[in-house]
Amino acid sequence: MFEKLFYFPFKVSSESLIKNMKPVKVILLATHNRDKVREISLKLNNYDITVKSLLDFPDAPEIVEDGDTLEANAVKKAEAGFKITGLPTIADDTGLEVKALIGAPGVYSSRYAGENVTYADNRRKLLHEMTNVPDNERSAVFRTVAAFKTAEYINIVEGQCEGYITREERGEGGFGYDPVFYIPDYKQTFAEMPLELKNKISHRGEAMDKIVEVIEKYFNKTSHP
Ligand code: IMP
Repeated sequence: MFEKLFYFPFKVSSESLIKNMKPVKVILLATHNRDKVREISLKLNNYDITVKSLLDFPDAPEIVEDGDTLEANAVKKAEAGFKITGLPTIADDTGLEVKALIGAPGVYSSRYAGENVTYADNRRKLLHEMTNVPDNERSAVFRTVAAFKTAEYINIVEGQCEGYITREERGEGGFGYDPVFYIPDYKQTFAEMPLELKNKISHRGEAMDKIVEVIEKYFNKTSHP
């Protein structure tokens, strides 16, 4: 059939054409955040997978992150994204858990200082709450939970990065709590280190590496039954 429609300089059977056609692999990242889309797209570069985001679906209803845990939010976003688009969907949720604050701000990291606050407001509140905490008790962990929802299953992975909360802000890069999150091995806060290094050692970097493995297995299995 193809031979009749198109001119080919040599004879190619429709069977071999179909056999050699690459399957289209598309996933959704349930976010409006362009930086997250760029990060996961880079990690999926070698796998021929196209990453769409909620920016490609402007009519999609807002997904409210109202879970009590990072897991609950990641699952909720992944399930909603899958339901809206029908595409295999990744979603992630991140929190900063400070030991001296018994895990706070945790799942409430984005609104620690209240609703509609800036990153700087949240950092100020954190440093204030930690004023009397001695240096050796200022440990904290960033935790990212990522979920991958398909028609068949949902898979959940996690990434972590351990560090310490500084007494004052250091560095201009990054976002969120980066200027107050210190990594002893590199003697730098996240905001002081190059973005490539942060992406390599960070909680989200680890979670995304794990989710890429899950996605790769999914497409390998379903594309070649
Ligand atoms: P989200 O789940 O990625 O939207 O992250 C929730 C909140 O955690 C953000 O609003 C930030 O305050 C904080 N956060 C997440 N990831 C990072 C990071 O890599 N560095 C600093 N803060 C972060």
